[in-house]
Amino acid sequence: MFWVVCCSRGLRFQIYRHLISILHDIKIDRIGYLNSFMMTGCSTCRRSIQQLVAGTLKRPAEVPQSLRLLLLEVIDRSAVQRLPEVWVESLQQALLSGTPEVRLQAVRIIHNRGLERFDRQLRRMAGEKKLPVDVRVEALATIARRIDSMTGTEFEFLVSRLDEQFTPLSRLTAAQALADGPLSHAQLQQLSKTFDTAGPLAIPVLVRAFGRSREEGIGLALVGALGNSSAGSNVSAEELARLLSKYPESVQLAGGGLLAQLGVDLEAKKARLEELMPLAEGGNVNRGKEVFFGRKAACAGCHTIQGQGGKVGPDLSSIGKIRTGRDFLEAIAFPSSSFARGFRSYTILTDRGRVHTGVISRQSAETIFLRTPQLAEVRIPRHSIEEMHESKISVMPKGMDKILSTDDFRDLMAYLKSRK
Ligand code: HEC
Repeated sequence: MFWVVCCSRGLRFQIYRHLISILHDIKIDRIGYLNSFMMTGCSTCRRSIQQLVAGTLKRPAEVPQSLRLLLLEVIDRSAVQRLPEVWVESLQQALLSGTPEVRLQAVRIIHNRGLERFDRQLRRMAGEKKLPVDVRVEALATIARRIDSMTGTEFEFLVSRLDEQFTPLSRLTAAQALADGPLSHAQLQQLSKTFDTAGPLAIPVLVRAFGRSREEGIGLALVGALGNSSAGSNVSAEELARLLSKYPESVQLAGGGLLAQLGVDLEAKKARLEELMPLAEGGNVNRGKEVFFGRKAACAGCHTIQGQGGKVGPDLSSIGKIRTGRDFLEAIAFPSSSFARGFRSYTILTDRGRVHTGVISRQSAETIFLRTPQLAEVRIPRHSIEEMHESKISVMPKGMDKILSTDDFRDLMAYLKSRK
């Protein structure tokens, strides 16, 4: 029996029965239903549903895998800011005793939610040869940013997963783990050698691993590897220019030809930013808010500020803390020159020959969802993905600086800068 408590004794039984029937009714959008139920119920109701979800997940022997995957998706998509303790505990259980699919989904949630408490366990799992490789790769990608160094075995394992024989999504996760991980100089040198074979999906991601070094030898290895790779043209020129600018002169010199080939017009961009610079000061915050939520700019269609707005782009409620002045202008006038974390766009070709571009909005065991610039959510079965690569173009529309009047733009800047 589940333990369900609710506000009044009368309601308790009804809600309980209702929820059980929902869980088994495959015809309705159960995840959406449960999550909206949790949003609208009182706090006692909400807790009882959380208990129901956790309690069901904790009985792996009696509950079919499909239902457990569904409940994990409820957790993944839930609007709560911090996962309740009972859910975190059920993730723990799923990690330990789930089927491979359940474990993978549990690791993905831990990754998405940035939960750090499982780091040691995930690192152990990454090394367990008996576990399915996708679980191990995802485990490493989850902790990569927080570990002090990557062991030789972990590094070799991830590099081996870049091979074209694996599915694109799996390669992408391996590349992300390498890009986020604290690679040593020797490992970076070795990574540059994989560029011959790594392909257009992985290379733009792997390049980011080189953003933390300042060593001449490493920079030269990167430039050489990109120059020799046929997939080098998939790297964003602006991103590369920014990355190389942190290396010694000699590296920048060596990379000059590559940048010219990629066709950056850095001078023109610099000039436009200079032109816009005066608009970074002196705007009116309240009017800027109207612009943000107004129809012309339509920023709120994709961005949330203080709980209001869409979820296609990052939440901008405290954007004033991380972006300033010119940096801000660049994000708005040239959205594709720097991407906010977790909001890269991808182009996916399916086995039916359809092409979709968008931000990966969520993933479940069998499906990934892309949010397109037209704000539609496209559902793509994992097995149907034929090819996939990063798109150099942000979902965020460009030319906003030209669409808005000077006054509107200045006020909008003031409003965004005030969000701290
Ligand atoms: C069609 C959806 C869409 C619209 C409309 C949109 N954005 Fe964006 N925005 C995005 C996405 C997706 C990203 C993340 C990718 C990137 O950084 O380019 C982003 C990124 C940003 C960033 C950088 C955030 C960071 O963390 O660095 C800022 C600032 C921003 N948008 C402001 C705006 C403003 C202001 C408007 C209205 C003039 C606007 N956006 C309209 C989708 C949109």
